[in-house]
Amino acid sequence: MFTVGILTVSDKGWSGERQDRSGEAIRGILSTMDVHIANYEVLPDEKELIAQKLVEWADKSKVDVILTTGGTGLSPRDVTPDATLSVVDRVVPGFAEAMRAESLKKTRMAVLSRAVAGTRGGCLIINLPGSPKAVRECLEPILPVLHHAVETLKGQGGECAASEL
Ligand code: MTE
Repeated sequence: MFTVGILTVSDKGWSGERQDRSGEAIRGILSTMDVHIANYEVLPDEKELIAQKLVEWADKSKVDVILTTGGTGLSPRDVTPDATLSVVDRVVPGFAEAMRAESLKKTRMAVLSRAVAGTRGGCLIINLPGSPKAVRECLEPILPVLHHAVETLKGQGGECAASEL
């Protein structure tokens, strides 16, 4: 069991103009797993607000994993990866590599996501693009390793080399 925060980043979702279907998609997928959703919020595409929320959830709420959705593209308002990089201690490139590799099998548009992942203290922060379809496609390759990632981050992972993972 580990704890998760879901942060949807969307100007339209925040203003109420659009329903947050991506955040709901993450919640739906996680409901089949042994995880507790500790935090959920929708924010506008504002770098400082996103960075502050990531720090709050990582440092004060101490969630194990933060999944963001939205704001990873090329539009001038897309700043989620930039906010994430401004608060992480270490980048973990494998998550974004796996997500894009798997996504490219489904859509060439996957190259347009600048999603990153990294750790802040004991918290793993992962960006996902902002559509329910992209959320499903990106979570698929990384969900099986999340539990082990959380354990390893907390120094509880045991010996990776000796395991069948
Ligand atoms: N990745 C997957 N797996 N499936 C998708 O449909 N859409 C792409 C890309 N990544 C997509 C995807 C598109 S069209 C864009 S613009 C970027 O993610 C950025 O999306 P975002 O700005 O909503 O984060």
